[in-house]
Amino acid sequence: MSGRQEVLAPGPSTAEGDSSSPARRQVDPAADPGDMVDEARLRPRRLAEFLGQPQLTEHLHIVLEAARRRGQAVDHLLFAGPPGLGKTTMAGIAAAEMGVGLRVTSGPALARSGDLAAILTDLQPGDVLFIDEIHRLPRPVEEVLYPAMEDFQLDILIGKGPTARSIRLDLPRFTLVGATTRIGLLTGPLRDRFGFLGRLDLYDPVSLAGIVRRAAGILNVAVDDGGATEIATRSRGTPRIANRLLRRVRDYVEVRAEGAITAMLAAQGLELFGVDHLGLDKVDRAILDALCVRFCGRPVGLVTLAQCVGEEPDTVEDAYEPFLLQQGLIQRTPRGRVATANAYSHLGVPGTPEPPAPVARLW
Ligand SMILES: Nc1ncnc2c1ncn2[C@@H]1O[C@H](COP(=O)(O)OP(=O)(O)OP(=O)(O)O)[C@@H](O)[C@H]1O
Ligand SMILES: [Mg+2]
Repeated sequence: MSGRQEVLAPGPSTAEGDSSSPARRQVDPAADPGDMVDEARLRPRRLAEFLGQPQLTEHLHIVLEAARRRGQAVDHLLFAGPPGLGKTTMAGIAAAEMGVGLRVTSGPALARSGDLAAILTDLQPGDVLFIDEIHRLPRPVEEVLYPAMEDFQLDILIGKGPTARSIRLDLPRFTLVGATTRIGLLTGPLRDRFGFLGRLDLYDPVSLAGIVRRAAGILNVAVDDGGATEIATRSRGTPRIANRLLRRVRDYVEVRAEGAITAMLAAQGLELFGVDHLGLDKVDRAILDALCVRFCGRPVGLVTLAQCVGEEPDTVEDAYEPFLLQQGLIQRTPRGRVATANAYSHLGVPGTPEPPAPVARLW
């Protein structure tokens, strides 16, 4: 069973997550199928290869090591955070570190409770069952999961009407690993059944530079420290984007220059692909432009903002906003999104932002 990995149809591929949902689309200037192959090669397999997130990796190391020493399946794990930070990677790492099989599916793929029952009854002892986008599990399916997670039992209803009867099956002890970009949408009962919650934060540039150097080594691309740092600082705190920008700079250097990727070549290549020195792309700048120029600093609702930039509200909220908020370029107020003074100066637009709406006093 060691090393076995199955993707359960019709779930998403493990390499890229579910691209069918608008919220899952990545901020990516140019992806191609060759990138998918590279992406799979770049995914860390073991905890030691997972760079950054020191607190999370330390906690996870302890949880996995303790379970291994006791010879037990590890407690259920939930990973939450913006796209591309390593949630799917963590599920694979948990299975690899425990030396068990990995089964992969996703919330939207489990349309009926029977779909989940079929997967659960097919698990081997200790297996990791990874449910991506777990916040999108239909409610009846989620209810099947409760006794499975807690008591390792499955209640199945056989037959219909007055002759229907319920039988209870024992399941092997397994580990459920859930991933979500929207922890707030998880129901309380589901969230409480996880024994470990790992929140992934946007990465700092030093960790990202390490990730760029590691990826460059795997892809056999020469990059100096300045080049790695330049790519890292434009990667919006996201390893998936760092890896993609590295590939685009590699393309640029192959066609327009030669030798190792330096800071100057990385900057030139990324400017060419529309990624500015903060890592903002066309859509990020369109968001800031809408807030600063089109709406003249007035608060703008999420749906209106998304329509202005031609994206889904979920995509704006999940993929674009976390970084813009982290950089202090936008603010969320009770009346809508507003740009900060940093956004005006980044765009080179005169004018000051409207002060955020006063917080209503309830007393
Ligand atoms: N800590 C890390 N060290 C090195 N590479 C990483 C790290 N985290 C993520 N990556 C790289 O980033 C890519 C994206 O990671 P992953 O698919 O795990 O993100 P995710 O959080 O599941 O994203 P999504 O929410 O879109 O499914 C991986 O293929 C891997 O190459
Ligand atoms: Mg994923």
